[in-house]
Amino acid sequence: MQDIAHQNNAHYAPLFSRFKAAMSDSTVRFETQCLAFELDQIPGLPESPLVLDAGCGNGRYSAAWRNLFPRATLVGVDLNGAILKTGQVSPGALTPVNGNLEFLPFRSGTFDIVMSRGALPHVANPRQAVGELLRVSKPGGLLYFYTYGRGWYDYVLSPFRRIAMALGPRICSPPIYAICRLGRLDPRVASFILDELLVPVRNATPEKTVLEWLYSAGIKIDTIQPIVHAQFGNLELAVDRRSQWLHRVLPKIALVSFAVQRAKA
Ligand SMILES: C[S@@+](CC[C@H](N)C(=O)[O-])C[C@H]1O[C@@H](n2cnc3c(N)ncnc32)[C@H](O)[C@@H]1O
Repeated sequence: MQDIAHQNNAHYAPLFSRFKAAMSDSTVRFETQCLAFELDQIPGLPESPLVLDAGCGNGRYSAAWRNLFPRATLVGVDLNGAILKTGQVSPGALTPVNGNLEFLPFRSGTFDIVMSRGALPHVANPRQAVGELLRVSKPGGLLYFYTYGRGWYDYVLSPFRRIAMALGPRICSPPIYAICRLGRLDPRVASFILDELLVPVRNATPEKTVLEWLYSAGIKIDTIQPIVHAQFGNLELAVDRRSQWLHRVLPKIALVSFAVQRAKA
């Protein structure tokens, strides 16, 4: 476990600091659009919730949440202390807590809303993490997350991943950043490619298995609503024209995204 945490930290810290430097404020405008598209699908969200951003990274979605719900209180938890200290895109948007999704350092039933975006695929034991996310949400509260499903994309990606992993980030990063800069692509593209190729843990899980994790967590659930993910081709996003091909390809990536309403006590 320590080893995975160490590899994870080594992978994400430089990626997120470049991402932050490249994106500054415009990332939050983009993510706010994405989040609004998804939250519009969930009825009855409270105006001033206590929200946990689980696997918050540089906090871009916490900042987006604050844009949409200015009275919300955001707590961000991430394994990676370096990102929490230095990588926040919008310092002050969240209270950072260093912790592991598999053993969350919060009391049961603490949060009105628990959001986790793209962190479960990188957790060593995602079933346990899902149980923890449900545990810390309030009875009657909401768990809203996405993880990677399994699709053609994984088969296409796997030989590239093997090559990239063998070469290592120090060799792969400069040409990828250079190509993206030369093509004047949206700065997210380089981070996205490097993340896909070099992240130490990347689980792709069928929807059926994710549902099984939810139902076997020992916590009563009222409803499970599939959510249409925003970023990938479902809405008109303010991306520059040169990066649009990526958004045309990405809708085909399988994602599993659910809004899970915990039963009231
Ligand atoms: C792909 S990034 C997503 C970050 C953020 N949710 C976003 O959308 O920008 C995955 C994040 O999960 C974090 N992470 C991975 N394993 C974790 C664990 N076991 N506990 C807490 N955070 C973890 C990583 O450090 C990283 O910040």
